[in-house]
Amino acid sequence: MKLNIAVLPGDGIGPEIVEQAMKAVKAICDKFGHELSYEQALVGACAIDEVGNPYPDNTHELCMKSDAVLFGAIGSPKYDNNPSAKVRPEQGLLAMRKKLGLYANIRPVTTFPSLLHKSPLRSDLVDGADFMCIRELTGGMYFGRPQGRSEDGDTAYDTCVYTREEIERIVRLAYEYAGKRKKKVTIVDKANVLATSRLWRQVSQEIEKDYPEIETEYMFVDNAAMRIIQWPKSFDVMVTENMFGDILTDEASVITGSLGMLPSASVGIHTSVFEPIHGSYPQAAGKNIANPLATILSAALMFEYAFNLMEEGTLIREAVAASMDEKIVTEDISGEGKAYKTSEVGDWVASYITKK
Ligand code: IPM
Ligand code: MG
Repeated sequence: MKLNIAVLPGDGIGPEIVEQAMKAVKAICDKFGHELSYEQALVGACAIDEVGNPYPDNTHELCMKSDAVLFGAIGSPKYDNNPSAKVRPEQGLLAMRKKLGLYANIRPVTTFPSLLHKSPLRSDLVDGADFMCIRELTGGMYFGRPQGRSEDGDTAYDTCVYTREEIERIVRLAYEYAGKRKKKVTIVDKANVLATSRLWRQVSQEIEKDYPEIETEYMFVDNAAMRIIQWPKSFDVMVTENMFGDILTDEASVITGSLGMLPSASVGIHTSVFEPIHGSYPQAAGKNIANPLATILSAALMFEYAFNLMEEGTLIREAVAASMDEKIVTEDISGEGKAYKTSEVGDWVASYITKK
C-alpha cells in the first residue's frame, strides 16, 4: 500500500518524539512492504516565528493532500505568559481542527500493568480500566461567536453553540465505537443548566433508539468528573461536547499513571490527525529525555484508523509493550531503573519491529 503522510512536529519536544514515531513507521513500512512518502511542515509557535501564522496555508494544503497527519505538540511559554499576544500557537491547532473538519477527538484510556503504581488512584480501582473518550472538537464554546469584550474592556463573553447535525454525527460515532467494544455509551452533558446540553440530550435520546443493543447512560458532567476517579471501570465509550471533553480527557488520562503513554486520533471530514495527548513540555525540549511512546502509539492508531492496517498497528503496540516489559523507557516511568534517552527508546522499538 502507498502511504502518504504529513508530519507536523510542532513545538517543544514535538520534533524529538515525532522522530521516534517515524522510526517505527518506517520499520513497519519496510516490514510489510508499504511504500511510504512523507513531508514535514510547520505548525504552532515555530510557524509563528517563521511565517507569522500558526497554521500556514502550505501546511494546510499538505494535510489536505495527505492520507494521514502525524502531529507532535504545540505551545510555548513565550505565549502562555502573555495573555495579550495577538497570535497564539493554540490558534493554529484550532484552525487545523476547523479546516480539516476534525469533529471527533478519540482518546482511548488504557492502563499498563507496570505503571499502575504511578497512578494517583488505588491500583484496584484503575487496574483493567479501559474506556474511550470521544470529545466533540469543532463546536461549542471554542468556536461559538460572539466572543470578546465589551467596549470598556470590563466584561467578556464566550458563546456555546451546537446544532443538531453536529451532535448527531458525534453521538452516532460513539455508538459505532461502542458496538465494537463493550456496548455501553455514556453521554455527558449539563442538561440541568445549559440549553446546548438539553439539545444534546434530546438528540441523543432520539439516536439511542437506533441502537437497542447498546446500553445508554446519561450523566451530568460534574458527576462524570467524580465517577472517573471513583469508578473508572464503569465506562466504555464516553461522548461529550468540546469544553467538557477537554477537561474530562485530561482527568481520564492521568489516572493511568502516565500522561506520556496516551495517544489520540482526531477524525472527521478530511484527513485525520494522530497525536499524543500530552503537550509540548518545553522544559524538556532538545534534551532527549521526553517519553516518545504516546507518539509511537499514535502512529499505531494511524495505521489502524487511517489505513485500516490492523496487523501493523498491533505490532507497534506489541513493540511498545515489550519496551516497557524490558524497561527500555524514559525517566518519567523508569523509576529505580535506568532512564533511557528518547532516541534510545525510539531505536529499540523500531528494531523490535524489524526483528519480529
Ligand atoms: C487539547 C488542548 C487544546 C484544547 C489547547 C492546546 C488549545 O488542551 O488538545 O486538549 O484545549 O483543545
Ligand atoms: Mg486539553
